[in-house]
Amino acid sequence: MIPQTPASLDRAAPFFVAGHRGLVGSAIWRKLEAAGFGRLIGRSSRELDLRDRAAVSAFFAEAKPRYVVLAAAKVGGILANSSYPVDFLSENLRIQVNVLDSALEHGVERLLFLGSSCIYPKLAPQPIKEEYLLTGHLESTNDAYAIAKIAGILQIQAVRRQYGLPWISAMPTNLYGPGDNFSPQGSHVLPALIRRFDEARRRGAESVTNWGTGSPRREFLHVDDMASACLHLLENYDGSDQVNVGTGEDSTIREIAGIVAEAVGYDGRIEWDTTKPDGTPRKLLDVTKLRQSGWEPTIGLRDGIASTVQWYREHVNSVRT
Ligand SMILES: NC(=O)c1ccc[n+]([C@@H]2O[C@H](COP(=O)([O-])OP(=O)(O)OC[C@H]3O[C@@H](n4cnc5c(N)ncnc54)[C@H](OP(=O)(O)O)[C@@H]3O)[C@@H](O)[C@H]2O)c1
Repeated sequence: MIPQTPASLDRAAPFFVAGHRGLVGSAIWRKLEAAGFGRLIGRSSRELDLRDRAAVSAFFAEAKPRYVVLAAAKVGGILANSSYPVDFLSENLRIQVNVLDSALEHGVERLLFLGSSCIYPKLAPQPIKEEYLLTGHLESTNDAYAIAKIAGILQIQAVRRQYGLPWISAMPTNLYGPGDNFSPQGSHVLPALIRRFDEARRRGAESVTNWGTGSPRREFLHVDDMASACLHLLENYDGSDQVNVGTGEDSTIREIAGIVAEAVGYDGRIEWDTTKPDGTPRKLLDVTKLRQSGWEPTIGLRDGIASTVQWYREHVNSVRT
C-alpha cells in the first residue's frame, strides 16, 4: 500500500525551491510555474549560501515559505566525488541540516528532500528497491556524498516521527536535460557524451574514444519528468520511506553513445578504451512504488536526448564548463 495524502498544494502559498538554478531545481521551478504556483522563491548560492546557518535562518524568518523542495547540493561526477570527498560530505551535510532545521523552526508544512541512487549499496540486487537502503557497503568513489544524502533521508524520517509532519524524500536515477553540467571535470555520463560527440562533429574527428567497454547498463530520466514526479509526490505521497524516481528501464552505455552520436549528427567511429574501468555493471531503480502512486514518465530517451542536444547547442557559450 502506498501511503497517500489527499492534500493538493495551495498555488498561492510561498514556495521555496532551494537550488532553483541547477539542473533539477530549474526544472522543478518550470513545472511549478506551469502548474500555477504564483509565489515561487529562489536564491542563488551567491545571494544565500545555504552552508551559512545564520543566513538560512534569517531567510526563512523573512520569506516564510509554506512549502520547500531541497534541490540544492554540491553535485559532481565520479572524478569530482573521489577527489574532494571532504567537500561533498561537509557541504551537503551543512546545506541539508541548515535548511531542514530552519524549515522545522519556521513551520514549513510540506517539504521534499532530494537524494540520489548512490545511497544504495554497491552490490544491491537489481532493480534496486527502496528497502535495500543500509543493507550493504556503498560504492567507495562517492561514499562521502552518499552518507550525506542518507543523513538527509534519516532527518526527514526523524522529523516525521518526532513532529508528525508530512515531509518526504525522493531518490532520482541519473537525470539529464536542459541546464545540465557539461564540464569535462564535473559532468555526469550523458552530458559528457553530448559534449564529446558534438565537439568531435565540429572538429570533423574520425573517431571518438569512450572509457570502458560500453557494456554497463544505466537508467536515465529526463529532468522535466523528474520535476513532474516531484510535484506528484508532494501532492500524493505521505510515507517515511524514500521513493525511487526513474523509468524502470535501462540501456547500455554503448546504446546511449549511439543515440547521442545520432542526435548530434556525428558519423565517425565510436571506440572504447577497454583499459579504463567500467564501474558497476548495472544500476536500475525499482520504481514500483512510484508507479503504484499513479505516476509514469512521458519523455522517451531518444526525444529527450535530441531536445537536450538542441538546448546544449543554443547555450554552448553559457553552459557550465
Ligand atoms: N543530476 C543528476 O543526475 C541527479 C541524479 C539524482 C539526484 N540528483 C539530486 O538532485 C539535487 C540537485 O542536483 P542537480 O543535478 O540539479 O545539481 P546542480 O545542477 O549542480 O545544481 C545544484 C544547485 O545547488 C545550489 N547550491 C549548491 N551549493 C549551494 C550553497 N552552498 N548554497 C546555495 N545553493 C547551493 C546551486 O546554486 P547556484 O547555481 O546558485 O550556485 C545549484 O543551483 C541533488 O541533491 C542531487 O543529489 C541529481
